[in-house]
Amino acid sequence: MKFTLDSTLATAIETACLVIGVFEKAPLQGAAELVDQASAGALQQLIESGDVSTDWKDATLLHGLEGVAAKRILVLGCGESEKFNSVRFDNVCAIAGRFLRDHIVTSAHVCLHDIEVSQTTDYWRIRQAAVNLERANYRYTTTKVPKDDDNQPMTSATFSGGAEMNAALKEARGFAKGYLRSKELGNLPPNICNPAFLADTSREIANSYDNVSLEILDEDQMAELKMSALLAVGRGSDNGSKLIILKYQGKDESSQPAVLVGKGITFDSGGLSLKPGANMEQMKYDMGGAASVIGTFEACAEMQLPINLICVVAAAENMPDGNAYRPGDVLTSMSGKTIEVLNTDAEGRLVLCDALTYCQRFNPAVLIDVATLTGAAVVALGHHASVIMSKHDELVNELIEAGDTAVDRGWRLPIWDDYQSQLKSDYADMKNVGGMAAGSITAGCFLSRFTKGQRWAHIDCAGSTWIWGGDKGSTGRPVGLLTQFLINQA
Ligand code: BES
Ligand code: MN
Ligand code: ZN
Repeated sequence: MKFTLDSTLATAIETACLVIGVFEKAPLQGAAELVDQASAGALQQLIESGDVSTDWKDATLLHGLEGVAAKRILVLGCGESEKFNSVRFDNVCAIAGRFLRDHIVTSAHVCLHDIEVSQTTDYWRIRQAAVNLERANYRYTTTKVPKDDDNQPMTSATFSGGAEMNAALKEARGFAKGYLRSKELGNLPPNICNPAFLADTSREIANSYDNVSLEILDEDQMAELKMSALLAVGRGSDNGSKLIILKYQGKDESSQPAVLVGKGITFDSGGLSLKPGANMEQMKYDMGGAASVIGTFEACAEMQLPINLICVVAAAENMPDGNAYRPGDVLTSMSGKTIEVLNTDAEGRLVLCDALTYCQRFNPAVLIDVATLTGAAVVALGHHASVIMSKHDELVNELIEAGDTAVDRGWRLPIWDDYQSQLKSDYADMKNVGGMAAGSITAGCFLSRFTKGQRWAHIDCAGSTWIWGGDKGSTGRPVGLLTQFLINQA
């Protein structure tokens, strides 16, 4: 979608659809007030008669309002002004985006950022409006041809404002690019999006920017590095495992990079510890961590942030097979630490531990892994927040704040040493499962053993990266949180 700014008066602008917001029982603001004045009080009357809802998340479409040049006006209810905040604003923008996507219009003029939202700037509101429009505009079409009667996606949007807001739209384009990349990778079926596909996608990104380079390690190269934990996971699959390393240089070489590591299990059957059949197809999303670090990487390259960034994806497929790794196996990880496998379905931590060890060579300023690591993360926080774990309070706070700003929130779980004893094994330095209690935390504890001395955080996005059940599909998260975090570092 093309984003531009247009400072023409909201009532004078010739557009297929003017998008405005209204509060409940409060004076009309900004564009809504202008529309009301130009239409001799018609908007206010429609609100009073109940024809236009001011309820939060409601949307009403008006046609041919007298005195207003726009063909249509989309009125977004914002609810009570006292309850309104950045999250509610973001939701309103998403509703607007969905409405426009599902309607015949293909362009609009957006004035939603006229609405007052406490503790936000015009810049932020324009950015969030644009990102939400683009996210809502996405449809999966790669393996399903849209029906003829489908409404066309939006092709352009103008936002009220002058040239000084161009930076906000530039940032929005970055976020949107990252989110859409992540969504598409998440939604693609596992027979298409396999480890080699993740590598090809990374190559495509690397070829698009002069200051991006790429390295891909195949199984032989990983064997030379003694990455036996990662390789064990992919051994039951005919799709060879890959370690994908994307490097972005936005600053002089001596500057320590931020390093993102993504779990890229392109399908998680559970392996020999096979998962139950129901909902197993959802395990195509088990590369959601990889999708979001790749998306975030692309967002940063698109914005040309003045930072150095490295993105490492541990890509493998977890399948049962005569050659698959087994419960009872003891693996020697790249770090030299031994791991007793008690459940081949706890595979994410096995690919990540070797990827994290590999990352030490980059001397990271900050090291963050992102993974759909545990079902327990969904039990703990549901779909509203990613789980964040780190021993570095400041880093946790920075990540939570970034999530708040991008409205892609994260929340902390502890990673105290008290939990480490659950990983004790009689046959190895540790086992790969920690039992029923605190499943997300013991997974984090497992990873912590491979990140000693690093400024490291673990993000479990099992709940946030896709929506289960009804309104299914990849959300692209936590691209927003990560991208905002990197913007704040820059
Ligand atoms: N990819 C799953 C985690 C997952 C499960 C995410 C369901 C989203 C929904 C992971 O590889 C896994 O299977 N984890 C196990 C760990 C257990 C065997 C210790 C889990 O969470 O049940
Ligand atoms: Mn698993
Ligand atoms: Zn998994």
